[in-house]
Amino acid sequence: MRPYTPDLSVRPEVTGFFDPATNTISYVVKDPGSAACAIVDSVMDIDYAAGRISHDHADQIIAHVRNRGLTVDWLIETHVHADHLSAAPYIQQRLGGKLGIGRGITVVQDTFGKVFNEGTEFRRDGSQFDRLFDDGDTYRVGGMTCLAIHTPGHTPACMTHVMGDAAFVGDTLFMPDGGSARADFPGGDAGTLYDSIQKVLSLPDETRLFMCHDYGPNGREIRWETTVAEEKAHNIHVGGGKTKEEFVRFRTERDAQLDMPRLIIPSLQVNMRGGELPPPDGDGRRYLKVPVNAL
Ligand SMILES: [Fe+2]
Repeated sequence: MRPYTPDLSVRPEVTGFFDPATNTISYVVKDPGSAACAIVDSVMDIDYAAGRISHDHADQIIAHVRNRGLTVDWLIETHVHADHLSAAPYIQQRLGGKLGIGRGITVVQDTFGKVFNEGTEFRRDGSQFDRLFDDGDTYRVGGMTCLAIHTPGHTPACMTHVMGDAAFVGDTLFMPDGGSARADFPGGDAGTLYDSIQKVLSLPDETRLFMCHDYGPNGREIRWETTVAEEKAHNIHVGGGKTKEEFVRFRTERDAQLDMPRLIIPSLQVNMRGGELPPPDGDGRRYLKVPVNAL
């Protein structure tokens, strides 16, 4: 495993935006030395029963960025989410910035291009994004050097993004009392997820970790920030020295009991396109498909 050495003296200002409809946390990450920021894992609102899209959550983020006078250097997707729709293109149109995701997006596009029987107009080369990150790639947010670490297992495209002393882990980990995310989606693998979690836990103990989701287990209030030290000591799935074998057995048994996420069908169709809805049909309206007995 290659060592990752974040610069812990750089402490970005991290503002979380919780979306109660999907339990997702989106982040604005401000470079401490300039007005530059990154936006991580934004959310587009959907009333799936009504087929209605809106942007209240994204508008909150846009208002925050404008009120603070920030400039957006990057819009980061930690992975292709299966439980919420990305608002990245909506935000990008209004605030600018480049859109980035892990190079594994092409694997996800190939898999779900087939599931949704997409035609050749659906590009499976990741070209909907401005940049595809490989493991160890760096990029800049103002004066801050950021690092993308490939952390597959939940999905093939999952990356953890380290910005100064803060790491955005996507669904690689949950809060210590939440454990870890499922590893049974196509291209997911529990053993691979365990290895990816070890990469995150090899960051310095005091690294701040920011979750993509929190479900408030056992009725506690929603939280999204912890540290590597806390996760190593207390994570209920991987902490306290749990072995890979224990983790894989537990994760596999648990995943077999889980229902599909409520929004997986619209989420994948939008997120595999970088957050764009499918192109308009002959009548000018956009449609989302429901493949029968495919998932
Ligand atoms: Fe996810």
